Amino acid sequence: MKLAHTKTIHFINFENRPLNPNLCQPRKIRFQFDNIPTLWLNNSSVLTHFFNAINLFVPAFERFMVRAMKNQLSCIKNTNIELPIRGLIGQETTHGQTHKKYNRILEAQGYKFKTALIITDFLFTEVLEKYLSDKMCLALIAGFEHLTTIFACIVLESNMLANANPTMRSLWEWHSAEEIEHSGLAFKFLIHLDNRYYIRALGGLLGAAIVVAFILIGMVLLIIQDKSLNNKKILSDLIKLLFTDYKFIPLTVKNFIPYFQVKYYPQSKDLYQYAEKVFQAQSSPRERFDVADFVQN
Ligand SMILES: [Fe+2]
Ligand SMILES: [Fe+2]
Repeated sequence: MKLAHTKTIHFINFENRPLNPNLCQPRKIRFQFDNIPTLWLNNSSVLTHFFNAINLFVPAFERFMVRAMKNQLSCIKNTNIELPIRGLIGQETTHGQTHKKYNRILEAQGYKFKTALIITDFLFTEVLEKYLSDKMCLALIAGFEHLTTIFACIVLESNMLANANPTMRSLWEWHSAEEIEHSGLAFKFLIHLDNRYYIRALGGLLGAAIVVAFILIGMVLLIIQDKSLNNKKILSDLIKLLFTDYKFIPLTVKNFIPYFQVKYYPQSKDLYQYAEKVFQAQSSPRERFDVADFVQN
């Protein structure tokens, strides 16, 4: 007679699996977006809508990434990168679905953005995917991902979400941590298939420009709708976000420039500490672990 051990893990919003960049397996999630205040971060329209703006477009961006990467999966000749890339696709799929769920909350709060999302989907499916080569689509994705890693590190290193609504803090910290876990993989995928410098440089530039443009459009769209455009706090919060407290502009420029070096290669190891902190926090004593019954086989 053998004893089998079944373990039931209870987690608050996402599964507390430690960082594993060799697999990048998507974590199970169970976000419930109940009672999210309209201004959920520091009571600031700028800070809240910076994240909300990203949220609006994440589902469309991530659907595009998943389609373009899946399309090229069969070309991978190295099983060492195939496994984590399959994990990356899984993680992006979960991110897209979760942020789509939050977009419904934004709609319920009265924000209108359906047309913007239709235009975004059109841009990806009818323009970029139709007129760019498969490799250029991958280069765009490598650029998106490089920018996402920079943003994730800024958010986690500055502890920017410390005073956020707990669910929203958890959502963005989970997403940021998984971005760090799979950072550099899209770049490795690209150069495994096409190592031409101009493809990755052009794709990187275009990818970053698209992300920045969408964030700006989203922020303006949401700030106008919550009628805080004339609020004096807007300018000071914008300066804090971009230059003084969180330094998004100088840090992004500084960390994006090396991407254009001919010999650039992602060095993700130094960044893992930020993601590890998030995954460790999730398994802190406030979490419940039920190591369920030992059952007899
Ligand atoms: Fe993501
Ligand atoms: Fe990503």
